[in-house]
Amino acid sequence: MPKSTDRLIVGNWKMHGFSAALAEISALATALAAGEPPRCIVVICPPATLLAEASRLGSMAGILTGGQDCHPALSGAHTGDLSAAMLKDAGASYVIVGHSERRADHGETSELVRAKAEAGLTAKLIPIVCVGETLAERDAGRAETIVLDQLDRSLPDDAAGRKVVVAYEPVWAIGTGRTPTDADIAAMHLAIRQYLVTRFGAAGQDLSILYGGSVKPANARTILAIANVDGALVGGASLLASDLTRIISAV
Ligand code: PGA
Repeated sequence: MPKSTDRLIVGNWKMHGFSAALAEISALATALAAGEPPRCIVVICPPATLLAEASRLGSMAGILTGGQDCHPALSGAHTGDLSAAMLKDAGASYVIVGHSERRADHGETSELVRAKAEAGLTAKLIPIVCVGETLAERDAGRAETIVLDQLDRSLPDDAAGRKVVVAYEPVWAIGTGRTPTDADIAAMHLAIRQYLVTRFGAAGQDLSILYGGSVKPANARTILAIANVDGALVGGASLLASDLTRIISAV
């Protein structure tokens, strides 16, 4: 049966990139135009300072953009924050919410993540809701319990209809060069799929589940071939167009 989920490669630039980094978007656009059409949706989530220009450059090559976070409110007295509607206004189509770095650095709870995801939906963005266990939780045999509990509390109720993307990112695999075994990724993605189908019915079958954590050109093909892995959320290896192009062509 053909897959009905969207395949996605999402680059998360985190707090990397000054205006010179926009050249990587142009380079990616050139590389994608020169090769086979990508078999996936390509999304770059740059720092917010670059979002408008990245969106403009990307739109000429079918590259979409996203924010890395948003405030749950539409607007208001929240110094330093950005609303989902502002990201949309700057050209974004997606917004990452609940990345483990925000859960850790800013004490974000799953309830807050859910409010942010709902704000994303209201602004007509597709929230990419991140979940993942720490190494201690995995070692204690609690990885699946933790991840499913995070999903339960972080995902909005109207996630069906491909309006939300789930990203499974084991915290200990992010930026470390370490990845779970293929069997561990397969087991977690299957557990997530079963959870989504239980909660959303048949629509849960269509939601994309990304894997994130040390995805690079050397391991992308293997990881992307695992059942229920519908794409990747890529940090470090998304900063250079040359690396990201190789990951995109591995889909
Ligand atoms: P990494 O980051 O690819 O550098 O491990 C992934 C992420 O944090 O989304």
